[in-house]
Amino acid sequence: MTGAAMLTESVTTSEPAFSVDNIHISDADLPPFNDMPFEDIEELHLDHPGASDLEYRKRRDYIASLSKKFRETGVITDVEYNEDEQGIWRHVATRLEEMHQKHASPFYLQAKRDLGISTERIPQLTEMNRRLKELTNFRLAPVEGLVDTRAFLSWLSWRTMLSTQYIRHHSRPEYTPEPDIVHEAIGHIPMFTNPNFADYSQFIGHGARIATDEQIEELGRLYWYTVEFGLVEHEGDIKAYGAGLLSSFGELEHAFSDQVERRPFDLEQVIDHDFTYSDMQPVLYVIPSYAELKDVTRNYISRFKG
Ligand SMILES: [Fe+2]
Repeated sequence: MTGAAMLTESVTTSEPAFSVDNIHISDADLPPFNDMPFEDIEELHLDHPGASDLEYRKRRDYIASLSKKFRETGVITDVEYNEDEQGIWRHVATRLEEMHQKHASPFYLQAKRDLGISTERIPQLTEMNRRLKELTNFRLAPVEGLVDTRAFLSWLSWRTMLSTQYIRHHSRPEYTPEPDIVHEAIGHIPMFTNPNFADYSQFIGHGARIATDEQIEELGRLYWYTVEFGLVEHEGDIKAYGAGLLSSFGELEHAFSDQVERRPFDLEQVIDHDFTYSDMQPVLYVIPSYAELKDVTRNYISRFKG
């Protein structure tokens, strides 16, 4: 069976097991991108701040169509962002940069420098791809909306992250109910410049390809409480490394307030801890170190093979 076929919903535990350590993925190993079975994922929900703004919807649809075209051509189209879009980026990226100095883990701050993005303009997936290739051989593939957990995580096993290209609505610069280029390029993408984090993501991807339906739920929770909303100990202090925290002023401030219960990371507890997509998380988990998270995750995923 090809890797691409594993991405369909018919994945079962009878798939051949493979090592979670096969971290060397080349272009030749990739399943064809045109095999991604995503339909109607570009739909904008009625609770989106731009839902009744026809001009915004048209622009978002256009950028989504460029992302979708990638699956036919295999070529990423750079988006010519307009001045309004650049303005939203400058506003959000500048404010987040200030907050990161206080709350982000040094690991993330270094990763952001290594990626080389600027608060001045929206980075293109193509330029970030060039940088990731040099550093960790991770890559980005455009996608026009939020895909299901198994598909999204499975692509990480090929050191590939699916990424949206459009930007949030100007009326709520601090908030987006769906992934957008701010969430991807400020929250997620810097972390892939770090080899350990890239490997960690890939372990999760391996797991997603062979997980049972129950295990994929668990993996989704592990991903949520680490990659999206993770905190880490640092020299007696607590810092943020989760993309959902680092790309939202509100979440980042809230994460360090007394309204949040910050628990020591415990794998069994995390994979059992249901979450909601509401924008404020009541409980967050603090890992002691990335090395420990990587070890625990590798061991956990290897249990899937049995
Ligand atoms: Fe995310």
